[in-house]
This record gives sequence, structure tokens and C-alpha cells, in this order.
Amino acid sequence: MSHVCLCRKITAEKIEEAVKNGAKTFLEVKDATGAGAGGCGGGRCRNKIEEIIENNK
Ligand code: FES
Repeated sequence: MSHVCLCRKITAEKIEEAVKNGAKTFLEVKDATGAGAGGCGGGRCRNKIEEIIENNK
């Protein structure tokens, strides 16, 4: 299992689930999952999260 957000240990599956449940932006995924809310402030995971949002629209 790979973590998209390393700081908060959030998986791609978790993020996909949030997108399916209606999250459409990085901030909405952040609110729903905590991904992007870690120490790096999304510096390491934001691009990957936005890619998952794109691919699951
Ligand atoms: S890797 Fe996601 S907030 Fe740092």
C-alpha cells in the first residue's frame, strides 16, 4: 500500500474515495481526508492529489 500523502499516511484509495464522495479540489480532499495537512503543507503530495482528482472526475 503506497501513501500519497507521506506526512499523514493517506493512501490513494482514501483520496479516490473522497473524490467519489464529492471532493473536487485539493482543499476539499484535504478537509475530507487530512491529506495535505501535514508538516510539508502539501509540498510533497499536492500534485499527486490533484492528479488523482483529475483521473477520477
Ligand atoms: S506529504 Fe502530504 S502534507 Fe506532507
